[in-house]
Amino acid sequence: MLLSEQCYKKIDRELAKYPAEQRQSAVMASLAHAQVELGWISSDVMAELADYIRMPAIAVQEVATFYNMYNLKPVGKHKISVCTNLPCALSGGVRAANHLKEKLGIDFRGTTDDGAFTLVEGECMGACGDAPVMLVNDQRMCSFMSNDKIDTLVEELKK
Ligand code: FES
Repeated sequence: MLLSEQCYKKIDRELAKYPAEQRQSAVMASLAHAQVELGWISSDVMAELADYIRMPAIAVQEVATFYNMYNLKPVGKHKISVCTNLPCALSGGVRAANHLKEKLGIDFRGTTDDGAFTLVEGECMGACGDAPVMLVNDQRMCSFMSNDKIDTLVEELKK
């Protein structure tokens, strides 16, 4: 098994939210739990989840590859997703992305040599009024990201 017993307990709780014939409804949450545990989702993990949820492996793969929050390759300890959709792009998103790229010395989809940071482009996070917006490790939303706030964030994450 690639996932721990503890992870499967979390997945069981997700599965319990749906009728037995709708187990596939828990696939997104199950993928998220797997990602929290392993950092990314390999095709072997997708296959293992497919067996467990009892749905076709290709259907799990379709979900995992459709949504951009799933990491299909290993990422750094801190994945920073910068929203580059139009409202953010028009409100400092490009400036924020460029500042981060320069500060970390990497481009989008890149990981720093020490494995601490991965930078990715994110889709609209539903917080356009807070632009520019970033998401750390798919969970922590950071709003109104001035260059100073970006510097503070990076220093905090380095600790
Ligand atoms: S466009 Fe960036 S949060 Fe909506």
